[in-house]
Amino acid sequence: MTATRQPAAKRMRELREIINEHSYRYYVLDAPTIPDAEYDRLYNELQRLEAEHPALVTPDSPTQRVGGQPAAEFPAVHHGVPMLSIRTETDTEARGAANFDARVRRELGLTETDPPVQYAAELKFDGLAISLRYEHGLLANAATRGDGEVGEDVTLNVRTIRQIPLRLRSRSPPTLLEARGEVYMRRDAFERLNARQREEGGKTFVNPRNAAAGAVRQLNPAVTAQRPLSFFAYGVGGTQGWTKAPRTHAGVLDALQEFGVPVCDERAVVEGAEGLSAFYRDVGARRDGLPFDIDGVVYKVNDLELQRRLGFATREPRWAVAHKYPAQEQLTRILDIEVQVGRTGKLTPVARLEPIFVGGVTVSNATLHNEDFIRALGALVGDTVIVRRAGDVIPEVVAVLPERRPRDAREFVMPTVCPVCGSEAVREEGEVDVRCSGGLYCPAQRKQAILHFASRRAIDIEGLGEKLVDRLVDSGRVRSLPDIYDLSIGELAELDRMGTKSARNLVDALQRSKQTTLARFLYSLGIRHVGEATARDLALQFGKLDAIMEATEEQLAEVPDVGPVVATSIHRFFAQGHNREVVAKLRQRGMRWQDGESKRPATGSLAGKTFVLTGTLSSMTREEATERLQALGAKVAGSVSKKTSYVVIGADPGSKAERATKLGIPVLDEAALANMLGGRA
Ligand code: IVH
Repeated sequence: MTATRQPAAKRMRELREIINEHSYRYYVLDAPTIPDAEYDRLYNELQRLEAEHPALVTPDSPTQRVGGQPAAEFPAVHHGVPMLSIRTETDTEARGAANFDARVRRELGLTETDPPVQYAAELKFDGLAISLRYEHGLLANAATRGDGEVGEDVTLNVRTIRQIPLRLRSRSPPTLLEARGEVYMRRDAFERLNARQREEGGKTFVNPRNAAAGAVRQLNPAVTAQRPLSFFAYGVGGTQGWTKAPRTHAGVLDALQEFGVPVCDERAVVEGAEGLSAFYRDVGARRDGLPFDIDGVVYKVNDLELQRRLGFATREPRWAVAHKYPAQEQLTRILDIEVQVGRTGKLTPVARLEPIFVGGVTVSNATLHNEDFIRALGALVGDTVIVRRAGDVIPEVVAVLPERRPRDAREFVMPTVCPVCGSEAVREEGEVDVRCSGGLYCPAQRKQAILHFASRRAIDIEGLGEKLVDRLVDSGRVRSLPDIYDLSIGELAELDRMGTKSARNLVDALQRSKQTTLARFLYSLGIRHVGEATARDLALQFGKLDAIMEATEEQLAEVPDVGPVVATSIHRFFAQGHNREVVAKLRQRGMRWQDGESKRPATGSLAGKTFVLTGTLSSMTREEATERLQALGAKVAGSVSKKTSYVVIGADPGSKAERATKLGIPVLDEAALANMLGGRA
């Protein structure tokens, strides 16, 4: 052995081992741990070394076969006509097409003066190859490609795919027709499946192809039936007794479609290299918008007679080529995990990635959604991960390669304070998200907070819209919400696109907005979980802002419809010094409202009970009764509703008594009321 062959032999052995391992994971387990692009790189390296050192090619080299071994669990199916693979072309658009066209012309012995070759161009679906065998028009069996010669019998599973006809739509179908194509999963179905898996704590899938391949190769067809699979045919294998057999590939696809077998409409018959590259460009531009993943387009010589003349090179037809698009999955590394604060205060961990070209763009960040997502993924800072960008979906980290984990990899810890404003960051029970409690104070939430404050149902400041708020905050003019009340006409007029007239209008609107109600003011603060109704209830119950700001969680929870979660949220908001400061500043700027009577119930024996009084009482006036009931914590309402606890009936009661009986609400006479009030009538 020469000195140069030694390292090559070693590397080839290594590559064979790595590739075989990954082929096994891909084809047999349906659980690849590296992206295709990475696999292709390893495979190409081995192919190159084998070309340089043909003597070192071994019969067990992964380059010496088409696909994977069929799994022992499924009965074997011998393919009469082998299921071949196609050569791939990864060259840029124009050259990829030109290379193929030039080769075809050369092999057909065509010269420059001959007319262009006609091609059928179609999509390269990213799923699992399947052969459907129809005998006398009936689906007899369905098989995977396996190693190309022998596949797995997955008939029971494939029969659950509704798109696949069990009988061809034809009065005189061929005696034998093998429709070949791809089982795949639409992207929306994939997203839904993963969401469901996540909810149920099941395993999520890296991409639609794995999900589809796994579903087809399920041992239990009932599971397959639950998976939303689709199918597109792209050709035929063996055929017999096909009376009107087409003479072109496009004709074959049309015929399959007429038989009721799904064929993708995204196909074209084009001429020459230019036609091919136009198709490549056109589909490439629309790739993100397709409802399913493709990894390229496929060019096929359209004329079946020319296909026959071109024949095969080892295991690949000379008449077809797959022209790939940039990979939608790549390996990269998590350099760091940072936390971003959104406009609603949500803290989102974002992976900073070693920049990587994936799905046609360079990606250097990917959202990791929340702590639970990171945990389920098992990702550490420093990990090598698979990043996927498919369709117009934002890039996602879909898997981790633990075997490539560096020793200094570290776990991500969600911060307990907001990285932007330092306020407490809280994760409420039953929620996955952590939120900044800074509200109005947090710069990350400032624009959103101002817009909410100014909105019609809150303080209602006409003219303070999104664009202006952007400009005010971005220019640094408004650092905190109360600053909006310091804006002058001159200042506003100076801002682009704002004339003196609209500036004056806005200042007038700001001035007017200072007179408001307590309920609106509370709502305008944007306290989480405090909507308009809750704000009204709070205002009604407490009467004064200070009472609300000083209230304990328990006191807050006494307000109708305020549960512990809402009470905690309100309490936490006013516990933050900077939120209190914003409130104080707004009051200093002149915000005012009419205080109401505090209706906060004494935590008495009748707390939570609602009474309605009707008719004349003999021992006390209605007003006295009302006061005494309220003193014990009860509410006294004017009309009977389902929420009424008791209706007290005096002499000559009105319709309220009838209504109480109708609603089945307990009725009290004066003696019973006296009893409840403590025996003193
Ligand atoms: S033709 C003899 N057409 O790509 C040619 N294959 O390596 C047989 N594929 O796993 C294949 N879309 O399942 C052909 N429009 C298409 C295809 C397609 C996807 C898959 C096929 C096989 C691989 C070819």
